Amino acid sequence: MSKAAELHQAQIANWDGPMGEVWAASEARTDKGLIPVSNALFRLADVEPGEVVLDVGCGGGATTAQLAMDVGSTGRVVGLDVSKTLLALAEKRLDGTAQAEFLHADAATVAFPKPMFDLLFSRFGVMFFGDPVAAFTNLHRGMKPEGRLAFACWRAAADNLWVNLPLRAAMTVVPPFPRATGYEPGPFAFGDDAYVARTLTAAGFTAPKFQQLDFTMNFAGLGLDAARAVCGVGPLARILRDQPDEIKTQALAAVAEAIAPYAVGDQIQLPASVWLVTARAS
Ligand SMILES: C[S@@+](CC[C@H](N)C(=O)[O-])C[C@H]1O[C@@H](n2cnc3c(N)ncnc32)[C@H](O)[C@@H]1O
Repeated sequence: MSKAAELHQAQIANWDGPMGEVWAASEARTDKGLIPVSNALFRLADVEPGEVVLDVGCGGGATTAQLAMDVGSTGRVVGLDVSKTLLALAEKRLDGTAQAEFLHADAATVAFPKPMFDLLFSRFGVMFFGDPVAAFTNLHRGMKPEGRLAFACWRAAADNLWVNLPLRAAMTVVPPFPRATGYEPGPFAFGDDAYVARTLTAAGFTAPKFQQLDFTMNFAGLGLDAARAVCGVGPLARILRDQPDEIKTQALAAVAEAIAPYAVGDQIQLPASVWLVTARAS
């Protein structure tokens, strides 16, 4: 198996496993925290009634629900994901919504019967492909020639203090752990806009455009409560999962200290930054 295929399968195993569970457990809180991203992305996506939309990496279906409302009863939205746990949440959320359906499939290999989508949409669901050009080429096959793409992805970890600051704090107590380098699949794989533009162009999309959106990630509580919330998302969740309790306790304390200066009222507010990406199918 190639390195890219190995990394891809590892992502699927993680999402259709422990990370899917973690994401499902914090779904409501995450959705609330990502409202600034959703609002900006939906404005750019400009969904019309009657359109057919693919929600890639739809997770628990928060964005699929909004898309279903926007396309209305004459349209259709397909939520695609590899996590059975998250898809179960999504199906429950959209139970009885005739224009929504869900597919448990890998976006990199799923076969669509014909070019059918007006819009390829994703909130943070397209950064996990071992071979992004191959995956987007596959997704492109499902697009109508006049179709378009709109997705949100994180800018580099260095531009996202909400992940970078706690990671650096945890590194003072957690034994050395491998950190993603280069363009390996993971939440921050699409931080380099020039790389994403090249990827999309190689996959058949045209006129990629990038809009930077800065916002704050808000974590409820202060001290250890906030540290637990911060450590429950992003790469730290995975890193701490495998640590003994003693190290977890020390890491939480280190993170609590590092984030304390970012207290605003009864919550911690940390800077975050994403790309809002649009492109045309032809
Ligand atoms: C960061 S979560 C975002 C979930 C959702 N879009 C949201 O904003 O709440 C990433 C999602 O992408 C899904 N995913 C990862 N790799 C995938 C793949 N190859 N094909 C389809 N979905 C994938 C994960 O299972 C997960 O639900």
